[in-house]
Amino acid sequence: MAHFGFITVLSVLSIAPLCFSGNTLGGGYLYPQFYDHSCPKAREIGCAASILLDSSGTITSEKRSNPNRDSVRGFEVIDGIKAAIEKECPHTVSCADIMALAARDSTVLTSGPNWEVPLGRRDSSGASLSGSNNNIPAPTNTFQTILTKYSIGSHTTGNARCTSFRQRLYNQSGNGKPDYTLDQSYNTRLCTDCPRSGGDQNLFSLDFVSPVKFDNSYFKNLLGDKGLLNSDRVLFTKNGISRELVKQYAYNQELFFEQFAKSMVKMGNISPLTGYKGEIRKNCRKVNAH
Ligand SMILES: *[C@@H]1O[C@H](CO)[C@@H](O)[C@H](O)[C@H]1NC(C)=O
Repeated sequence: MAHFGFITVLSVLSIAPLCFSGNTLGGGYLYPQFYDHSCPKAREIGCAASILLDSSGTITSEKRSNPNRDSVRGFEVIDGIKAAIEKECPHTVSCADIMALAARDSTVLTSGPNWEVPLGRRDSSGASLSGSNNNIPAPTNTFQTILTKYSIGSHTTGNARCTSFRQRLYNQSGNGKPDYTLDQSYNTRLCTDCPRSGGDQNLFSLDFVSPVKFDNSYFKNLLGDKGLLNSDRVLFTKNGISRELVKQYAYNQELFFEQFAKSMVKMGNISPLTGYKGEIRKNCRKVNAH
């Protein structure tokens, strides 16, 4: 759901959406070598973080209709990475940058594209928090959910709850009929775990073909009337430009990967806090005590 994904990227990368003023005064722009002097081991720790992400099993073990089974909570994963980095370089690497790196690493780990992450963001220290609290994912969210929210502006991986699409299965237009634009066999398959009533907590992959792999099957699904949510389907049905993009990405995975990497860098550059603005959080879950 690009619509809320975009907003949450803003808040999660602590980009201080309410503090647009003076983003040039803070000094800086972001660049990949930002920590090369202040924390040369950050890259190695980045690798360790990948292992942590990998071994946490969230990415490979999260199964449809098995909410949260075996999965490490998203914030626990981030806390783990933060702890390792604080040990090596106290008070140096921002949570915003850790999140940006983790988003990249999890994409790579699931066979998606790689990109250089521009660094040097600082964490928001207050004002923006109240404005973005609604967009901050719950600590109970799994890592994958959090990444989906932040996210990755795309439904390449991730899940949705039954409640988000039940209407399509049973009562699309308020006339007691399903959404006939949904592929029939896919509909049948969804109905099993998403009955008329109950099953609200069940999770469904946004890409049932390859739920844990970062690839372009999400777009292929849209071409085959197998987009899970209304908001997915309309990308193909409601707008000519977006329909063309869906087709291009469905036919050309490389193109999708390239564009995705570019978009991630671009989003991460939206009004970041830099220089003396904000702070380096000690605990990624809350602002420092002053
Ligand atoms: C379908 O939705 C309409 C409008 O919200 C509602 O009045 C109706 O009772 C629903 N029908 C069923 C079978 O759930």
